[in-house]
Amino acid sequence: MANRSCLLYAFLLLVAFQSSMIMANTVIHTPQCRPVAASSKDKILFSMNLLIYKAEFFLRASVGVGINGISPGLVQGPVPIGATLANITNSARRVIEELGLATVGHLRAIKQVLRSNLPFPGPQLDLSAQVFAGFVNLGFNVSTLSPPFNIYANTPSFVLAAEAISAFIVQYYAGIIPSIVGDEQRQLVAGIGLNEAAAFGVLRTILNDGVNSTVPPYTFTMAELTNRTSEVVNRLGGCGVKDEGLIVPFQLGAENRTTSNVVPGDVNSLAHARFEREILRIVFGTGNATIGTGGLFPDGFIGALYQLIINLKFS
Ligand SMILES: *[C@@H]1O[C@H](CO)[C@@H](O)[C@H](O)[C@H]1NC(C)=O
Ligand SMILES: *[C@@H]1O[C@H](CO)[C@@H](O)[C@H](O)[C@H]1NC(C)=O
Ligand SMILES: *[C@@H]1O[C@H](CO)[C@@H](O)[C@H](O)[C@H]1NC(C)=O
Ligand SMILES: *[C@@H]1O[C@H](CO)[C@@H](O)[C@H](O)[C@H]1NC(C)=O
Ligand SMILES: *[C@@H]1O[C@H](CO)[C@@H](O)[C@H](O)[C@H]1NC(C)=O
Ligand SMILES: *[C@@H]1O[C@H](CO)[C@@H](O)[C@H](O)[C@H]1NC(C)=O
Repeated sequence: MANRSCLLYAFLLLVAFQSSMIMANTVIHTPQCRPVAASSKDKILFSMNLLIYKAEFFLRASVGVGINGISPGLVQGPVPIGATLANITNSARRVIEELGLATVGHLRAIKQVLRSNLPFPGPQLDLSAQVFAGFVNLGFNVSTLSPPFNIYANTPSFVLAAEAISAFIVQYYAGIIPSIVGDEQRQLVAGIGLNEAAAFGVLRTILNDGVNSTVPPYTFTMAELTNRTSEVVNRLGGCGVKDEGLIVPFQLGAENRTTSNVVPGDVNSLAHARFEREILRIVFGTGNATIGTGGLFPDGFIGALYQLIINLKFS
């Protein structure tokens, strides 16, 4: 009798384990996960919010200069909140600077294709350590880590934040590229998307070099941290598993044959796509695309597509 209930218990555990493993690879396709109908131009303008965030964040953290210091008149927006130089190695600094500069080029290319003469209005950005710490705290289910997580304190912490921003850009481009109309526009988004994807891979590679090392000053490893932050992002996005840790269960690894996961992908290792509402739910940190009063974009996004989402209450 005791043996039978033991066996039953083991069986139930196995079932629970397997179903959670299958769930682990599930991507959700309900309406809140679909794209919002919009023109190619409005989708590209929506992406500029993310590109501007990345460029300002990478450049200010690596060399202490914003987009205006590199390419005056390209973007005109409020001064970002909480920018500071990051305490990172010289080799990381050079890489982050390069990737930030490349994104300035992407913004200029958009301006050229859209035949715009005026500076792009920029959104209010929050680049502060506190706003990133909020996401990490959620991952550990604590009100605050002790000491508070500081992305600017060291190379692994900063590169993790840089990688997260990069991921949203790659995922949004994976989402919109198939629907962009016009040769020039398609060439533009393919060129930006592929370059940004390469940048994302470089950042994941840097993180993966220290995957089993602890993240100072804590006792958890980078593998665990990427797992926890990915879980937070996926929970906020509400559309399944699209951000993935660096070490994963086999079911999330390429061909179900590896736990190494430098480059995340779906069941066929295709890039994960995220659309507008999903991105907003994440970057606002609220899990709600219409509550944009915090997170990385404290005043929301700029542009018609964002306004449409607000007006239609597409949370
Ligand atoms: C944190 O809380 C969320 C939601 O309450 C839960 O899904 C998750 O498993 C928890 N994570 C940990 C590491 O306890
Ligand atoms: C800067 O980084 C170095 C190397 O990781 C570390 O030893 C030092 O404590 C850091 N400085 C600050 C102010 O965090
Ligand atoms: C990290 O640890 C995993 C086991 O969890 C191991 O398979 C892998 O080889 C380690 N990677 C590195 C780069 O040390
Ligand atoms: C995080 O790790 C857990 C335990 O290994 C795993 O089930 C889950 O799929 C991982 N999540 C991500 C997003 O990598
Ligand atoms: C990997 O496992 C998933 C279920 O977790 C399954 O849907 C998929 O077909 C498997 N892929 C391969 C290549 O076996
Ligand atoms: C999102 O926030 C709006 C405004 O507060 C609210 O009306 C809506 O119900 C929320 N949506 C969800 C899914 O919580």
